[in-house]
Amino acid sequence: MSLGPRDRIALAVDLPLPEGIAAWEQVAPYVGVAKVGLSLFVEHGPRAVEVFLQRGARVFLDLKLHDIPNTVELAAAKAGALGVSYLTVHASGGAAMVKAAVQGAAAGAAKAGHPAPVILAVTVLTSMDDAALADTGVARDAGAQAAWLAQLAIRAGATGLVCSAREVAAVRALVGPGIVLCTPGIRPLGAAANDQARTETPASAIAAGSDLLVIGRPITAAPDLVAAAKAILESIN
Ligand code: C5P
Repeated sequence: MSLGPRDRIALAVDLPLPEGIAAWEQVAPYVGVAKVGLSLFVEHGPRAVEVFLQRGARVFLDLKLHDIPNTVELAAAKAGALGVSYLTVHASGGAAMVKAAVQGAAAGAAKAGHPAPVILAVTVLTSMDDAALADTGVARDAGAQAAWLAQLAIRAGATGLVCSAREVAAVRALVGPGIVLCTPGIRPLGAAANDQARTETPASAIAAGSDLLVIGRPITAAPDLVAAAKAILESIN
């Protein structure tokens, strides 16, 4: 997929909606995608998507769907109809569920006259370590389980994956070109790590094969949001 540099930055608007809109309006010249997470969507519903679409954003709806295939297909169709560009699902829901998400999202988008969203599969949550996985009955370590689920998701038709910027080169080698790789945990040099343990700079994540950088606090908590967003765009341009 060929994306301009601005389209490679997704602003994680994990803020109260009015603040998120204000942040978006300031940085929109440098950022092409607004990532709407679960809390904003639970609080505001489709309006949380529409306000960013109306302001020219492409929207990344980060709902991490995980349910029986029929339910996921219905939900993905509604997301597709909203006109989102990216939608997340859990690969651990299984191949039939991932396939249902892909089909539902494409059908919902087509009906409403939008292009099909990229379905981004989440493999192993970064909050899960080997012990937490073992606790759920998974014997593989987190890295091996993530690779396993990445391949399952791609086989099932997912067009993208969410992965750590540290693992993006290995994941790219596994899935080949043409799959959208999306990486959170991005920190420009000198930015506070916050709760992110294993970070990469925007330029190094892109060099390693990332297509879409998810960036929240390095922009939203910066003293000068516009300068922060501009510097990030320049660093990958
Ligand atoms: O503020 P920050 O740049 O850390 O925001 C990153 C965003 O990416 C947040 O919305 C967070 O939920 C999400 N995310 C993450 N780490 C993952 C997956 C998603 O930080 N492994």
